[in-house]
Amino acid sequence: MSKPNIIILATGGTVAAKASDESTSTDYKAGVLSITSLLKAVPGLDDIAKLSTEQIANIDSSNMSDELWLKLAKRVNSLAKSPKVDGIVITHGTDTMEETAYFLNLVSHTNKAIVLTGAMRPASAISADGAKNLYNAVYLAADKQARNKGVMIAINDKIYAARDVSKTHTLNIDAFKAQNSGEIGYIIDGKVFFSHNSTKLHTVNSVFCVRGLKKLPKVDIVYSYANDGSKVAIDAFLKAGAKGIVVAASGAGSIHENSKKHLIKLLKAKKLVVVKSSRVGAGLVPLGKEDEEQGFISANDLNPQKARVLLMLALTKTKEGKEISKYFELY
Ligand code: SIN
Repeated sequence: MSKPNIIILATGGTVAAKASDESTSTDYKAGVLSITSLLKAVPGLDDIAKLSTEQIANIDSSNMSDELWLKLAKRVNSLAKSPKVDGIVITHGTDTMEETAYFLNLVSHTNKAIVLTGAMRPASAISADGAKNLYNAVYLAADKQARNKGVMIAINDKIYAARDVSKTHTLNIDAFKAQNSGEIGYIIDGKVFFSHNSTKLHTVNSVFCVRGLKKLPKVDIVYSYANDGSKVAIDAFLKAGAKGIVVAASGAGSIHENSKKHLIKLLKAKKLVVVKSSRVGAGLVPLGKEDEEQGFISANDLNPQKARVLLMLALTKTKEGKEISKYFELY
């Protein structure tokens, strides 16, 4: 039987990092090793798939940009159309991996497997996790069961749906969790096990598209906290061209009155679209009757950084609060 064709798109991250010695696992520069050199540390991949590679970028993922997202998404869409590509693996820093994965989940129009992976420890460290993660990601992308699942993250032997996963630990190799729904499967010794699917729309069923898109609408995030001073930030973002603001609200969506009053004024004047997410990290944000009347939109259970991704794409379609709200229910 012929082996599946898997392409690995490399973007950098700790998986491509080298520290000064083997015992150092936190002080290093991410995104320095090439994908070709990373593959040398992963034996057996040629037995699973016919591999090809492309170095799209080599960055610390905290420097991810809207421009690079658009470039990556366009490349993914073009590769996915090719009959010579059966699945796509993307190596990525873990810091913003969840955002890139969710962005691709919304704009990649394919049912072929798209799997992101990375590492919590640099490639040079004792017990580096990158090689195993890359091995698992290729196995997953090569497996027919992985089709129609939306974009996934394969890390620490687990499979997560892009929409639901987030990084929840600064250093631990078990850093990724889907707090509201759990992982959707496992990869054990080259065998893929799925337990359930993400229920939200993605990939071939998504209305969002990057074709012809040169820029994304500007959306920024403000954080709610005791004695909140984010009114200043909101005005600065607005002045810099923000079309939308995501509030990382406290609890189930409460915002300090200092900035809430200001946001209500801006909503009334139709200066901004405002989405309420939560800084808590799990659970959804329900909207009260008054919130709805004031024009706030709920991020549902998306965290602030993911709500920003969806709001940017929603704003490429409409400025209408009710329609945007619907997108937050469906995606
Ligand atoms: C990064 O996100 O590029 C650095 C951190 C990591 O990959 O774990």
